[in-house]
Amino acid sequence: MLLDLTPDAVLATTRAVRKRLDLTRPVERAVLEECLRLAQQAPTASYAQNWHFVVITDPKRRAGLGELWRGAARSYLERRAAAAAADERIARLVDAVRYLADHIHEVPVHVVPCVEGRTDRAPVVAQASRWGSIIPAAWSFMLAARARGLGTVWTTFHLRREREAAELLGIPFESVMQAALIPVAYTVGTDFKPAARHPLDTMAHWDRW
Ligand SMILES: Cc1cc2nc3c(=O)[nH]c(=O)nc-3n(C[C@H](O)[C@H](O)[C@H](O)COP(=O)(O)O)c2cc1C
Repeated sequence: MLLDLTPDAVLATTRAVRKRLDLTRPVERAVLEECLRLAQQAPTASYAQNWHFVVITDPKRRAGLGELWRGAARSYLERRAAAAAADERIARLVDAVRYLADHIHEVPVHVVPCVEGRTDRAPVVAQASRWGSIIPAAWSFMLAARARGLGTVWTTFHLRREREAAELLGIPFESVMQAALIPVAYTVGTDFKPAARHPLDTMAHWDRW
């Protein structure tokens, strides 16, 4: 069922959700398929449609991915400890990451967006075309999820061990890249606020940089 949100509200309130993921409520396959069909409306370079989404609900595979994710999260948390002590915003982020590290295997659905064709060490034009063929679709998936009361968070921690994740999921590592691991669950409450961002004139450049 769709929440009563305008398109602008969906765009402004699709937050990184970690602590407000409902770990107890199952997510229906039909709802995930709706989100995936909307994701398929995103563009790909040359209409290649070289994208894939691996949707993981199997508890053993989620536990395995969770192990990989947690390992990278731990080293991130160690690296950010000093910054967190000095900055309350970073402290909140670190706290939320620690929470998700403790519970990642309990999140009912993990989604791994993938794209055919590796661009390791390729020129920027090749990288941009390849990543640009999966990231818009993955973000559309996240927006569609938000519109249906689901929370998501874009994460890349597990990519430190991408090859192991590929083995776990049967992804052909030599020819397919993983873009992210997106935990998906219904949110606890549906009210989310726009995030604080830098003033527009610090990042918008008109006619020249
Ligand atoms: C490219 C990218 C990689 C990210 N990787 C992780 C990650 O590995 N783990 C995590 O918990 N969050 C990750 N995030 C989420 C960011 O930390 C999140 O966008 C940030 O907390 C801001 O949240 P907000 O947009 O809701 O304000 C990532 C986000 C992006 C865009």
